[in-house]
Amino acid sequence: MRLLLALLSLTLADVAAERRSVPTYTIDLDLPPEERFKVLVRPGTGLNATVWKFWTKYFVGDPLLKDALFALVAARGHEAPELQAEISGMAAASGLPPAFVQGIQMLYEIQTLMVPIVNFSQPRLSSDGIGWEGANRTFHEPLPKKWEGLGRFPRAPFCTGIIATNQADGSVYHARNLDFFFTELMAELVYTGVFTRGGKELYRAQMIAGYAGMITGMRRGPDGYALERNTRYADHWGGNKEMLAHLLSGRLLNGWVLRQTLEACATYACAVGRLTSSPYASTEYAVISGVRKGTILARNPDGVAHTQTLGRHNYLQPPEYILITNFDFFFHDVRELFDPTGGHILGTPRRVAAQRILNATLQAGGNLTGELLFDTLNAKDVLADTIFQAIINVERDLWNVSIPDPASLPHATRGSREVTAAV
Ligand SMILES: *[C@@H]1O[C@H](CO)[C@@H](O)[C@H](O)[C@H]1NC(C)=O
Ligand SMILES: *[C@@H]1O[C@H](CO)[C@@H](O)[C@H](O)[C@H]1NC(C)=O
Ligand SMILES: *[C@@H]1O[C@H](CO)[C@@H](O)[C@H](O)[C@H]1NC(C)=O
Ligand SMILES: *[C@@H]1O[C@H](CO)[C@@H](O)[C@H](O)[C@H]1NC(C)=O
Ligand SMILES: *[C@@H]1O[C@H](CO)[C@@H](O)[C@H](O)[C@H]1NC(C)=O
Ligand SMILES: *[C@@H]1O[C@H](CO)[C@@H](O)[C@H](O)[C@H]1NC(C)=O
Repeated sequence: MRLLLALLSLTLADVAAERRSVPTYTIDLDLPPEERFKVLVRPGTGLNATVWKFWTKYFVGDPLLKDALFALVAARGHEAPELQAEISGMAAASGLPPAFVQGIQMLYEIQTLMVPIVNFSQPRLSSDGIGWEGANRTFHEPLPKKWEGLGRFPRAPFCTGIIATNQADGSVYHARNLDFFFTELMAELVYTGVFTRGGKELYRAQMIAGYAGMITGMRRGPDGYALERNTRYADHWGGNKEMLAHLLSGRLLNGWVLRQTLEACATYACAVGRLTSSPYASTEYAVISGVRKGTILARNPDGVAHTQTLGRHNYLQPPEYILITNFDFFFHDVRELFDPTGGHILGTPRRVAAQRILNATLQAGGNLTGELLFDTLNAKDVLADTIFQAIINVERDLWNVSIPDPASLPHATRGSREVTAAV
């Protein structure tokens, strides 16, 4: 048993290359919303120049995309007043077009459009060598002509999220990789925002400069929680159109719903309740860990499609952990096999690569410690275009965040279009 564990840690060793710490900024919620994010454009942060690079590189020269995004913003109208004021403040401070700053707030929603979606109406035996009995088949739901340009939106977040009980002390660890294309540029935009009220931390969140929604968050405290969001694609024909309709109808954006949850909820139960019932603008996963508990909600805009609960036997998962990447593996979503982010198409999906390590550790009598989870995040076929990593343990008040060395990732920065073609 010792030997097995030693061998396992040997293969996992050496993965942590040069990494960077995540810059931290205090976002004072007592300031007017227009003023809150000004701290980000102070000389020396480098953030303003990087957001300008993003705008210039991917939008200025692509009128199809830019016009579709601006048309969507115009048709949608203003965001919730507080968010709209934050957007105005960021646009004024950076000099970026307000419609661009507003459009970027729909990042998570728009990019659910990218992958062909599952045809669950006709599950059948696989005849193409993929070998998934009864696998859900893929088909492509085209976008309405008017919004086709949105399909050119830079491919954004893929992710891996694991919630595990460390049997050594019973506490629960939450491990997350945030994967983005244009890794080098995006990694420059990552920061931790410590959101304060009355000079005291109310919550903290890993953010991307220019985007007001939360991406990874934590509310500290005896019954606090950590919150991670992962991209989830529509699970039925017509899902793309529904998402567009929600954006056009002005539904609150997912990232705002999540930040409001961190603000309103001091407890795990409150957060899980809110994220179970609040309307979303698009499909998404909510990965929520607390003190000795955890759950993963596969959200549809109007409700929960599937729940994984730590401590129970979940589909293909023992009670010690639950995990998700970006695909409904519990519904046999065949798209998981075509996910190129782990380095190759039809290779080992990130989820399976992570499970092999977790399962082998348990089988060898090992414990799912923070270190083991950190090594798992960095293991071959799990680490992808990763721009941010977190190991969080609410019970131990641990917020361990870092940015891997871009040079250590399985492939260098690349554009969205080649990958869309590959999928
Ligand atoms: C941000 O960058 C733009 C473009 O270079 C510049 O016009 C603007 O003044 C900058 N804002 C700040 C606060 O430095
Ligand atoms: C998927 O479902 C749609 C709607 O039911 C159907 O028209 C289409 O033929 C199906 N496509 C495949 C590849 O099964
Ligand atoms: C795992 O934790 C248990 C306590 O639950 C302890 O007895 C055991 O030694 C640990 N295993 C390893 C490999 O550290
Ligand atoms: C991991 O273990 C679970 C059962 O505990 C099993 O269902 C699953 O297939 C295993 N996955 C891998 C990749 O080993
Ligand atoms: C296919 O996916 C749908 C949800 O998208 C699910 O309800 C159904 O059970 C899945 N079918 C199979 C064979 O996994
Ligand atoms: C925290 O992160 C660092 C990398 O910055 C890593 O080396 C360390 O093992 C982590 N600690 C825990 C408890 O996960």
